[in-house]
Amino acid sequence: MCGIVGYIGTQAATEILLAGLEKLEYRGYDSAGIATVWEGEVNCVRAKGKLHNLRSKLEQLENPAQIGIGHTRWATHGKPEEYNAHPHLDTAMRVAVVQNGIIENYRELREELKQKGHEFRSETDTEVIPHLIAEFLKNLPASSSSSPFLDAVRQAVNYLKGAFAIAVICADYPDELIVVRQQAPLVIGFGQGEFFCASDTPAIVAYTRAVLPLENGEIARLTPLGVEIYNFAGDRLKKQPRMLNLSPTMVEKQGFKHFMLKEIYEQPGVVRASLEAYFTNIEESSESPINLGLPREFYADLAQIQIVACGTSWHAALVGKYLLEQLAGISTQVHYASEYRYAPSPLTPNTLIIGVTQSGETADTLAALAMEKERRQGQEPQYQARLLGITNRPESSLGLMVPHIINTLAGIEIGVAATKTFIAQLMAFYALALDLAAHRQTVPLEKLVEIINGLRQIPKEIEATLEAQESLTEHLAHDFAETKDFIFLGRGINFPIALEGALKLKEISYIHAEGYPAGEMKHGPIALLDAKVPVVAIAIPGSVYEKVISNAQEAKARDSRLIGVTPVNDGEAAEIFNDLLPVSSVDELLSPILTVVPLQLLAYHIAARRGLDVDQPRNLAKSVTVE
Ligand code: F6R
Repeated sequence: MCGIVGYIGTQAATEILLAGLEKLEYRGYDSAGIATVWEGEVNCVRAKGKLHNLRSKLEQLENPAQIGIGHTRWATHGKPEEYNAHPHLDTAMRVAVVQNGIIENYRELREELKQKGHEFRSETDTEVIPHLIAEFLKNLPASSSSSPFLDAVRQAVNYLKGAFAIAVICADYPDELIVVRQQAPLVIGFGQGEFFCASDTPAIVAYTRAVLPLENGEIARLTPLGVEIYNFAGDRLKKQPRMLNLSPTMVEKQGFKHFMLKEIYEQPGVVRASLEAYFTNIEESSESPINLGLPREFYADLAQIQIVACGTSWHAALVGKYLLEQLAGISTQVHYASEYRYAPSPLTPNTLIIGVTQSGETADTLAALAMEKERRQGQEPQYQARLLGITNRPESSLGLMVPHIINTLAGIEIGVAATKTFIAQLMAFYALALDLAAHRQTVPLEKLVEIINGLRQIPKEIEATLEAQESLTEHLAHDFAETKDFIFLGRGINFPIALEGALKLKEISYIHAEGYPAGEMKHGPIALLDAKVPVVAIAIPGSVYEKVISNAQEAKARDSRLIGVTPVNDGEAAEIFNDLLPVSSVDELLSPILTVVPLQLLAYHIAARRGLDVDQPRNLAKSVTVE
């Protein structure tokens, strides 16, 4: 979490840095700051709270500096106060640093540096970095290299332990911006006589689409003349930028009140794009009508699948488990990445390991995958890691870590609460499960064709749902804006959707919500129910329909107001539920792509009615790069 930006070139840096930080605010937003070098001094301005506080402070200052760094913070070490906001400076205030990540050995370094006379002004781990760089700058022999600043930063980062990305400027080297990547994302942008760096591409796409993501253990020196890349040992590396497929308008709200609402409305397009990319024309296909670009040996003798993920991606993985087991007949386990890393399952042979992360940067998921990769190294061939990533950001750290990726096709998502990327992950799991089913011949071709044809109907069903439900959910939001607790129920393939509906509501509206498998209610949670606790039940005709309806009746008998996510023309449902969020009658197997939509809208409208910051809910960040 935290977002960093940097600029060096011919324009005034402040506005470019602020505009970049605006696009990175989704990564953290409890304080922000920028530092520039002008007339031989570092100028540093920081403010607690959202970016507009920093902007107002900067408006009063004239600053034509053409080099600078900026930061938007999600607090890890030290409260969200101005004195903990980045950039951080050394004692003499000559070196300024912004960091995304965690310096694990900061305590020892801080003690050592204090003993050498360095004065610390914050509670952060980051502050050791400028002091350490200043220390190396002081001790470098004169004329030791063509860039003493680069050398000092390189020496300093060799002392740091942890996962971090940093950008550094120094009053004594006004034409150099040094950036470092070590297990936290950092991309460099190439303009005409100007260069950028940022934690993520939306921060620089308005200026350039020529980008180079740094790899772990790389340092770049940006000057007005160009970019040089080195490894931590100081060897120069040859690298070329590539062109980004992202336009500035893709990161605008385009008339919607919030990014989240825009992204909910983009979902039919996401499903269409996924259908086009993953599914070939059935007549043309020989073995399988699905094309994920995965090598055949990947599937050979496959006995088991282990999936690691967090949050909404974990919910998508639970739907994936249902599909992989029911369609392809492969035993599948889904783990919270943060748990799996420290308590993995015993090693099994012929196992596919899947990491699901929309950002491709979630530290827990990356760490779980790295652990799995490492423990399988040097084992018998059948135990070797077969690693697959499902991500919306193939250029991310995940993309660098795993050999095969299913690229989800949501386009960039700005709202902190995941919506369209969830639907895109579901589409990836449908494609993977159907492809495996085709290869393992666990589903007859006619049935596969029927499922794919059903998927092709989904975009227009989502459109119809959006049209019908906008005002219904707004109306319900009016009734529930002050509600304290919510229960979401689902069974089978819709149990993960109950979890997702509850997560969406809690994270953006701060209302306590729980998702349960409907049949589990009677084993304890039913004690929570009374007239003040509404229950949302997902009831789709199919294998568990009657069961869900009975579970809903049990809730109604305890006076709960019942909201049904159920087909439009279902007479029985109309009688039981107090309110309906009707969806079209689709095959139960495909229903999660549809049933999640009203739950997203309900959460959105409740949060909007409560006047909350829907796109940037408190305490959260879009990209969780700390463990
Ligand atoms: C919820 C949400 C989070 C993320 C989780 C994992 O709306 O966005 O729960 O799903 O932090 O993020 P990724 O998918 O980037 O690994």
